[in-house]
Amino acid sequence: MGRMVIQCAINYNVDIHILDPDANAPCKDIAQKFVVGKLTDYDSVYNFGKDCDVITIEIEHVNTEALAQLEKEGKKVFPQPHIIQMIQDKRKQKQFYLDNDIPTAEFVLTDSKADVQSHVDFLPAVNKLGTEGYDGRGVQVIRDESAMELAFEAPSLLEKLVDFEKEIAVIVARNEQGEMKTFPPVECVFHPVANLVEFLFSPAEIDPSISNKALEVAQSVIEKLGMVGLLAVEMFVTKEGEILVNEIAPRPHNSGHHTIEANFTSQFEQHLRAVMDMPLGDTGIRSAAAMVNLLGEDGYTGDTIVEGLHKAMAEKGVYVHLYGKKTTKPFRKMGHVTVLEEDLEELKAKAKKLKDSIKIKA
Ligand SMILES: Nc1ncnc2c1ncn2[C@@H]1O[C@H](COP(=O)(O)OP(=O)(O)OP(=O)(O)O)[C@@H](O)[C@H]1O
Ligand SMILES: [Mg+2]
Repeated sequence: MGRMVIQCAINYNVDIHILDPDANAPCKDIAQKFVVGKLTDYDSVYNFGKDCDVITIEIEHVNTEALAQLEKEGKKVFPQPHIIQMIQDKRKQKQFYLDNDIPTAEFVLTDSKADVQSHVDFLPAVNKLGTEGYDGRGVQVIRDESAMELAFEAPSLLEKLVDFEKEIAVIVARNEQGEMKTFPPVECVFHPVANLVEFLFSPAEIDPSISNKALEVAQSVIEKLGMVGLLAVEMFVTKEGEILVNEIAPRPHNSGHHTIEANFTSQFEQHLRAVMDMPLGDTGIRSAAAMVNLLGEDGYTGDTIVEGLHKAMAEKGVYVHLYGKKTTKPFRKMGHVTVLEEDLEELKAKAKKLKDSIKIKA
């Protein structure tokens, strides 16, 4: 993500400094300054931020106390630390939706496995860890009593299983002036095993009325948060055409990668514009698009080898992005490919073909 933000920052002569725990991080050679340090460590974050004018994030697992201190000392920190802190905990996120009339699936808070197990009448449900879950880890579907063993022994929440029609996402940006812009909704199709996004289609194939509702919900979330920056709002569209917010992420997001080629402004540029208090860019669609995540092939761990790259590159409307991660692991996000194609059936076929032709191995 940082790498793709830097690609935009270059156009505006904005210098980017990066703090990353991995000495081999994809940004290491392209940032004006690269510091190795733990994002969850107070001193690493505080000392790094002291030299910056504007501080932002691309992952929400960061030390928010250090960010809050930097904010107190007059630094611009966007998204604001108290918002990152709330979002870090899915339990607090859900409470925020309740308190602010944001539509979301019904839930109960649970503190232990036994606690979850006492809610048999709430099944089928999804048990989610309060903190530290991402990319599907920390999410457990519990359909019936026989699956209760899977419940988390930690502060978590139990949410009604939504029999959704589609999963969509809306990315919304807001700058310090309160200007807001939303990207058109996209449709996310999940990998059945890895529980992370495998394909994404833009725009989502939904009724204009549902699309408008989704845009309104996304705007209302960022407004009620009073957040400055970029916010991805993951939502379910129910069989009845209702919108329910699943979760939010206050940063560039997997559901916006296609915008680099498929929209007038990319999510990465929009993020930069929002946190630097620049005018927000137009989010209109240049072309219908699909995005395929390039996940590390199951069964391969080690130095990355990309198979099928040249064949994919030869196709019209295909844009490959490799993230420069040195080592691959099963299902690790190693890159993505965007496909531009106006004909929807053709688009789906091309995306599927790409998925099968490019492989990330070791
Ligand atoms: N209440 C629910 N009903 C049905 N499916 C759900 C529910 N909650 C989550 N899921 C499924 O599990 C996926 C992952 O859940 P969620 O987005 O909460 O977790 P995550 O690990 O933070 O996700 P990621 O980091 O991949 O965005 C969802 O995208 C959805 O497919
Ligand atoms: Mg999610």
